[in-house]
Amino acid sequence: MSKPRIAQKGPYVMDLAPGTYWWCQCGRSANQPFCDGSHKSTGFSPVKFEVTDTGRFALCGCKHSGNRPFCDGTHNTLDEPGQGTPS
Ligand code: FES
Ligand code: FES
Repeated sequence: MSKPRIAQKGPYVMDLAPGTYWWCQCGRSANQPFCDGSHKSTGFSPVKFEVTDTGRFALCGCKHSGNRPFCDGTHNTLDEPGQGTPS
């Protein structure tokens, strides 16, 4: 399994309603930060998480967080450039 692609070198901050979500771990999804099935044959699989109360979440865009699917600041330690810029 290779390293995940850095989709964005910073978190995706978004408001989420209660429900089940699948966070893209491989970094290849065109629907970041969520899985769109593009991980096929990469060895990665999405990370399922549940939201029970509507709220604002910082979902990891660099794919290197130690607290997936959430940003833990690890993106600040990465040397490689990301595919996009933080929004
Ligand atoms: Fe990945 Fe912050 S965006 S740790
Ligand atoms: Fe990245 Fe599914 S597209 S884990």
